[in-house]
Amino acid sequence: MPQNHHQASEAGRDLQPRAAAVPVEISGVSKVFQRGSMQTQALGCVDLSVQAGQFVAVVGPSGCGKSTLLKIIAGLLAPSEGSIDIAGKRIAGPHTDLGIVFQSPVLLDWRNVLDNVLVQIDLRGGQPAAYRDRALALLAKVGLAGFENRMPRELSGGMRQRAAIVRALIHEPPLLMMDEPFGALDALTREQMRIDLEKLWLDRGQTTFFITHGISEAVALADRVVVMTPRPGRIERIIDIDLPRPRHKAVITSARFAEYCDEITECFMRHGVIQY
Ligand SMILES: Nc1ncnc2c1ncn2[C@@H]1O[C@H](COP(=O)(O)OP(=O)(O)OP(=O)(O)O)[C@@H](O)[C@H]1O
Ligand SMILES: [Mg+2]
Repeated sequence: MPQNHHQASEAGRDLQPRAAAVPVEISGVSKVFQRGSMQTQALGCVDLSVQAGQFVAVVGPSGCGKSTLLKIIAGLLAPSEGSIDIAGKRIAGPHTDLGIVFQSPVLLDWRNVLDNVLVQIDLRGGQPAAYRDRALALLAKVGLAGFENRMPRELSGGMRQRAAIVRALIHEPPLLMMDEPFGALDALTREQMRIDLEKLWLDRGQTTFFITHGISEAVALADRVVVMTPRPGRIERIIDIDLPRPRHKAVITSARFAEYCDEITECFMRHGVIQY
């Protein structure tokens, strides 16, 4: 378990102290969507304990209920059965002590980058001015130094996604949820974002759920990879990724890394999700 990473980094010192990360307990969660007489079982029975500060990647075929699970954890959807406890507190509705990054970055067209980040503080009734320096430091960390006054239309897709990630982090959430945040990006940008995200996480140490279709992306980022079955999604396997951090090129190209990816691919082959 990479608890050791928390003491590692000096790079985060320019930011404010790290918020305490939270453990997340998912107990017997399932979800059935009902429209008229039509029922869709989106999620089977999911049980998962996530330790405070852990980076969990969830991989699974399209439609297996990953986004549904994320929304249930965020309190945006009620489970049909089961419960979520965050830091020992039962979730009964939307809660604000988290950051969410959606698949396509939702930025406000009429606000510049800095103000898009600070909207998070506005919404929480805080004082945006007090967070300005922190916002600028975080923007610099993800390669957006000097872009704080640009409008969203002046940014590339990757830059928008970076701004959205900073917005999800600005209020120091102890829990970060990311739903295929790099899905729309080209391979090179995606790789760089992955590297930058690991750095941010090593600095801040928040409990993180990261949904992806990318097997190697999941292995590269996570402490644990949760492999889901096709719909209704259940947990097929949980694979602990015992690779050193930061996951530099030598780690990503190692035989052990390839073995983890193989193991996940095999899971999907067994379910006919991947066919050769
Ligand atoms: N609000 C809803 N009403 C009815 N059915 C829904 C609703 N949201 C999701 N579903 C259904 O639940 C299932 C799981 O959807 P979900 O979005 O969680 O999948 P996913 O794993 O995130 O897929 P993808 O990888 O394509 O994003 C799908 O069959 C979907 O049609
Ligand atoms: Mg989804």
